[in-house]
Amino acid sequence: MRDAVDDLIWDEAPKQAGAVALIDTPALVDDALSLTDDVRVWCDDWRDADLVPAELLVEHPTDLAGVDLALARLPKSLAALDEMAAIVQGTTDVTFLGGAKIKHLNRSMNDVLGRHFTAVSASLGRAKARVLRAWGPSGLENEWPKVREHADLGFAVAAHGATFGGTKIDPGSRLLISALAGGGRVPGLEADDVLDFGCGNGTLAMWLAQSGRNVLACDVSWSAVAATAVAAEVNEVDVDALWGPGLDGYEDGSVDAIITNPPFHRGFSKDSTDTLAMFDDARRVLRPGGEVWCVFNSHLPWRKELNERVGPTKVAAQDPHYTVTVTTAR
Ligand SMILES: C[S@@+](CC[C@H](N)C(=O)[O-])C[C@H]1O[C@@H](n2cnc3c(N)ncnc32)[C@H](O)[C@@H]1O
Repeated sequence: MRDAVDDLIWDEAPKQAGAVALIDTPALVDDALSLTDDVRVWCDDWRDADLVPAELLVEHPTDLAGVDLALARLPKSLAALDEMAAIVQGTTDVTFLGGAKIKHLNRSMNDVLGRHFTAVSASLGRAKARVLRAWGPSGLENEWPKVREHADLGFAVAAHGATFGGTKIDPGSRLLISALAGGGRVPGLEADDVLDFGCGNGTLAMWLAQSGRNVLACDVSWSAVAATAVAAEVNEVDVDALWGPGLDGYEDGSVDAIITNPPFHRGFSKDSTDTLAMFDDARRVLRPGGEVWCVFNSHLPWRKELNERVGPTKVAAQDPHYTVTVTTAR
């Protein structure tokens, strides 16, 4: 849905361009096509990509290289902005315009753009939105994806800019791994076919694969799925990673266990709709008697939701911040 941020990005954009990149801005497709036939769209979130005619979507973000105008929604993560600024490089006259609500802007965004471009300026605010304009490429190389070895866990993880958590290990996922390994209040995970639902940088998928399971992984974020695939290659394990919202591509009753560290926000907004939909999906895709292992911030009501939506739920492990639960599907 087009909003005040999209309107301002478009109004600030030069109205002449040979090739236009649209990044996370599905609402600007028709406007961009009014300038040129060479419109290349990349959306990290599958649900945004789904709004765009398939022939305009690029296969890989680096296919945006060489455009002369890039129009983007500024992401919450500075790493994601860093990758956006890097992938649109290729010509000397590329201009990048990124918009956001003013309350979501910060000076560090100018600094990130200032590493990739010699000039950065801000538009006037309008309808609580503002646009950052950057031009004059600095010649910085694209450093994404990044890989980091975690010797304590015995595997590496990978990240694109928009991958949740970058190459760090999320503390909740660390607690989940120790519970899966049998270090909690209940016996560890026994299943052979396991799905890492919301795989992010592949932390859980790598642990599962290294412990000899058949691992499926999925995420709504392209950066997460691509990063998990990179991590699998680096660790020389097999992980079947799919990009999509929820579990639409998986058959009912087809999986023995689902492991998840579910989201607590979508972009800038806190929203539990995704997490609840993920629990309903898990119920459908698990075989009866299959297990959901879930970790979450202890103040969230997910034990109750899992009990109601999936099946009887026990606490498997807890620390001062996180709770790990194990649910047996009805
Ligand atoms: C809290 S992060 C956990 C990432 C990773 N498993 C880890 O442990 O670091 C939640 C992940 O769920 C993904 N996600 C959010 N909504 C989703 C949905 N509807 N379907 C699939 N994945 C989703 C996010 O993109 C994010 O990568």
